[in-house]
Amino acid sequence: MDLVIENDFPLIAELPEIQKEWDLYNYDCMVARTQYYNYYYSYGKTWKPKRILEIGVRFGYSALAMCMGAEPEEFVGIDNQFYGPDSNRIAEDVLRRYLPDLKITILDLDTQSQVLPDLGKFDLLHLDAAHHEEGVENDVSVALGIANSGAHIIIDDCNWDGPRRVLSKHGGTYLKNFTGHGILTVGKDSV
Ligand SMILES: C[S@@+](CC[C@H](N)C(=O)[O-])C[C@H]1O[C@@H](n2cnc3c(N)ncnc32)[C@H](O)[C@@H]1O
Repeated sequence: MDLVIENDFPLIAELPEIQKEWDLYNYDCMVARTQYYNYYYSYGKTWKPKRILEIGVRFGYSALAMCMGAEPEEFVGIDNQFYGPDSNRIAEDVLRRYLPDLKITILDLDTQSQVLPDLGKFDLLHLDAAHHEEGVENDVSVALGIANSGAHIIIDDCNWDGPRRVLSKHGGTYLKNFTGHGILTVGKDSV
């Protein structure tokens, strides 16, 4: 289905954690509303994936945006908590606060060095952990192994050289926003 980008994601205004974070980096929160998290919300809302996987969850903000749009049956996150020892619990709390009925699993795993357990297949997969070319390539190949036919794989930070090269190699689509999103549609592009 053609992607429809919502032009605003107002939930950001209710989440003081996100506002604080963007203030810290001196970014205008409107960017987060109109050029970043609204994209995640839109992927969920347009494609309505039933099962969502994210590699690189941190505090659960992109996860929340995708899940609010999709209202999926299940969210599975993978994060080795490199950015903070308690980040997976914080992410789960954020998701539960807004989506109390969602089935949530967040695994503390390093996708560069550990093999994933059997997680089943997913309809939307977001990659936002490694940002160097080899690391992103690894996560794309992990994602391809657990993606349903017709699933979408989003690669964040494709305005950086490494992720962008991986996207080109797999014949995906570049979507210009604040960080640059790559989209691979499994079974449709060269994937
Ligand atoms: C940029 S943050 C994710 C931000 C989140 N997607 C969002 O937008 O709210 C990257 C996350 O990837 C995790 N990470 C980095 N390398 C990883 C690896 N090899 N395996 C699993 N997680 C990793 C870090 O711990 C961190 O929480």
